[in-house]
Amino acid sequence: MPVLDKQLTVFAPAKLNLHLVVGEKRSDGFHNLESIFLKADFGDTLSFLPVDDQNSIKIVMEFGEDACITGNSSLTDIPQEENIIYKAVSLFRSKTGFCQGLIIKAEKRIPAGGGLGGGSSDAACALLALNQIAGSPLNFDRLLELAAALGSDVPFFIHETNAALVTGRGECIKPLKTPRMFLTLVNPGFPSDTASAFRLLDNYRLQASGGNKTSIPESPPFTRQRSASLRLRKKDFTNMYNDFLPVFPEREKSVYNGIIAQLMELGACFASLSGSGSTCFGVFNGKDSAENAALVLGKKWKFVRVCKTLLK
Ligand code: C5P
Repeated sequence: MPVLDKQLTVFAPAKLNLHLVVGEKRSDGFHNLESIFLKADFGDTLSFLPVDDQNSIKIVMEFGEDACITGNSSLTDIPQEENIIYKAVSLFRSKTGFCQGLIIKAEKRIPAGGGLGGGSSDAACALLALNQIAGSPLNFDRLLELAAALGSDVPFFIHETNAALVTGRGECIKPLKTPRMFLTLVNPGFPSDTASAFRLLDNYRLQASGGNKTSIPESPPFTRQRSASLRLRKKDFTNMYNDFLPVFPEREKSVYNGIIAQLMELGACFASLSGSGSTCFGVFNGKDSAENAALVLGKKWKFVRVCKTLLK
């Protein structure tokens, strides 16, 4: 295929959930959330190469060692039509009529099924790149609508902000100011399926309430306390937790709790699980302490990465 124009190369950052409260299940089957999302300087790289072949699309996936760490072949071994980048391109084309042929190369580093938003970030990145190549046919609000149709975490990646208080199904995004954080990411080497984790959480609550009605946490801490102030301070860590942590089967739960405890022992000012798993993270004040923790945890776990939060 003859190449038409210069290639556009874009970084698709990983996210992590510093805090994640799951509210009630809604009539559309999704749950209301209260979460603090952060973007990291660790992620995938996507390149978009326009070619002279209208409506064609070829996606070349290159899985690095990190991306395969969870052994999740259902996410790495899928037909092109099921790839979320393909879905993003198809949706964009259907809404805009943009038919430029494209070869898209995705260099995957974010572990698949690891709770770090790899697929969501790639999808948002594809929407933004296509909109740029096509001369901005969609405004910001339309891009957000398309993003929400692709997945609950996708809208966050459309926003420029690198940190946000996220509510609703994932589409209500309030930018947050945060201090610089050094992170040690640890993945235990198995994936976690989001829909199954939500089901486990529903069952857990049903059982906890004696099977009568689902018990839902009271109004979550940040929506309640911080609606006026959108600056995050490290003392806020005391109000943070992840509602998924208690709901997993014993084996997974003990792996997560073990990693989190070790991160705290190694000097993290906060440690938790990202999303519905399976990556744990520790927040450190300095690069040296984050690297020291990585050195210790790297002896046991295959995926251990030190990165920083992106600042804006
Ligand atoms: O939107 P996404 O495709 O990431 O969601 C995957 C699954 O996770 C949904 O089908 C739903 O079961 C669950 N989910 C939810 N509430 C949310 C986000 C996801 O119940 N806010």
